Amino acid sequence: MRLDKFVCKSTALSREGATDAIHKGAVSVNGEVVTNEKAQVHENNTVTLSGETLRPRPFRYILMNKPAGTICSNVDEVYPSLFNLIELDNTEELHIAGRLDADTTGLVLITDDGHWSFNITTPTKHCEKVYRVGLSRPLRDGVARQFEQGIQLQGENQLTLPAKLEIIGPQDVYLTITEGKFHQVKRMFSAVGNRVISLHRERIGNVALDVEVGHWRFLTDDEVASLATSSRHF
Ligand code: URA
Repeated sequence: MRLDKFVCKSTALSREGATDAIHKGAVSVNGEVVTNEKAQVHENNTVTLSGETLRPRPFRYILMNKPAGTICSNVDEVYPSLFNLIELDNTEELHIAGRLDADTTGLVLITDDGHWSFNITTPTKHCEKVYRVGLSRPLRDGVARQFEQGIQLQGENQLTLPAKLEIIGPQDVYLTITEGKFHQVKRMFSAVGNRVISLHRERIGNVALDVEVGHWRFLTDDEVASLATSSRHF
C-alpha cells in the first residue's frame, strides 16, 4: 500500500497529516527516510514515525443489509450514505465491494482491504452475486437461455458472462451473475423487454444475508477466507 495510507492506517493522522509528516522527513522505511508519500510499502516493512514503529490496524470485513434510499458512497449526496449506519471509527478508510443502486436493497460487503474486494468484484474471479428480482411483466419464454448465453447490453463491447435465472413466479426470479457492470441487472432485463421493479441482493459467494435491514456485523474468518477464493458454481 502507499506510504501515506500506511501511516493513516497506523495512527490518528488524516491523509494530509500523514503527507505532511512524510514530507518533513519524519517517516522511515526499513531505516531509510522516505519523503515520497506515494512510495509503496508492504506490511512486513518496518515503518517508523519520529522513531516509533507503526503497526497498521487490522483489516475490517463487514456485512450489511442495505436499506432502500441509501447510497454506496462514503459521503451523503442526494441520498444519505449507508456509512451513517456504521458506528465505527475511521469509516473513511472503508469501501464497498460491489455497489448497489440507491433503490436496491440487501447484502453489501464493506472493507478496507482492497486486494480482498478485488477478488469479489473482478469478473475473472467469477464470484457469484445472487439477486431476487421483481419484474414489471411476466417473463418471456427463453430468457433463462438468453441469460445463460450472454446478453448484449447497450454501450458494452462484450456479451455479459453466463448468468443463471431461477424462476420463482412469472414476475419474481433469482438471478445469479458473476460480474457487476453499471446497473447490470436492470439493463439485462431491459434488454429482454422487461423492467426491474424491485432488486434485493441475497448472497455473495457463500455469504448469505442474515441481518435485519439497516443492521451490520463483522464477517467471520471463514467467510473472509471463502470470499478470497470463491468461484462460480453453475
Ligand atoms: N444491478 C443493478 O442494476 N443494480 C444494482 O444495484 C445491482 C445490480
